[in-house]
Amino acid sequence: MKGIILAGGTGSRLYPLTKVTNKHLLPVYDKPMIYYPLETLINAGITEIMIVSGRGHAGHFLELLGSGMEFGIELTYEIQEGAGGIAQALGLARRWVGKENVSVILGDNIFEDSVRDAVQSFSSGAQVFLKAVPDARRFGVAEVSDQRILSIEEKPKNPKSNLAVTGLYIYDAEVFQIIKDLKPSARGELEISDVNNAYIHREMMSYSLLKGFWSDAGTFDSLVRAGIIVQEYRRLQEQP
Ligand code: G1P
Repeated sequence: MKGIILAGGTGSRLYPLTKVTNKHLLPVYDKPMIYYPLETLINAGITEIMIVSGRGHAGHFLELLGSGMEFGIELTYEIQEGAGGIAQALGLARRWVGKENVSVILGDNIFEDSVRDAVQSFSSGAQVFLKAVPDARRFGVAEVSDQRILSIEEKPKNPKSNLAVTGLYIYDAEVFQIIKDLKPSARGELEISDVNNAYIHREMMSYSLLKGFWSDAGTFDSLVRAGIIVQEYRRLQEQP
């Protein structure tokens, strides 16, 4: 299993915090944001990880994380020119992934759960991780029935459930064929929800529900909230 962290995008929702640096380098309590998805992949047992970022601040990722040696992993870097969406960014990793399976995580997603078992037992198809949230309209939303996902809607006005599709996905190498056939959405991007719906259509999608804390950190409010929750979590860990 290989791992990919998607750390592109302009971070426009966090402007001017992102005027001279990349969103994924901003602090979430005591670490740069990208450390959290990196640790999620490492804790899942993944040791070959690619970071896809945009132009501009790409060199900062290299300076921060280097070869990956200090984390005991091998890091590779790729550049996404422009803002073509999450699925386009993933598509850039096609040759590097080859025929292997791949775990993909968004660089602004912070997970408390370990996904080690899911990663280690994955064989084929795709898997997503769902979390009940109060503000589902901000996310991809899954409609679930009888232990199956029927559909995923990207940022629906009237969500069919409160289950957000979090920014962590496991795919087999078929994902690259699916991405090749995608058409851009109304906002001109290749959407990860369209990739997931293609797997649902093929009846190759499974899911699990996250138990612990999950948040993105791509807006002012979610960034603050993520920092406070990490702070509380660290305090609890320190208690005897
Ligand atoms: C992206 C995905 C969305 C997912 C979310 C998780 O949205 O498109 O399906 O629920 O990440 O953080 P974005 O945050 O890029 O708007």
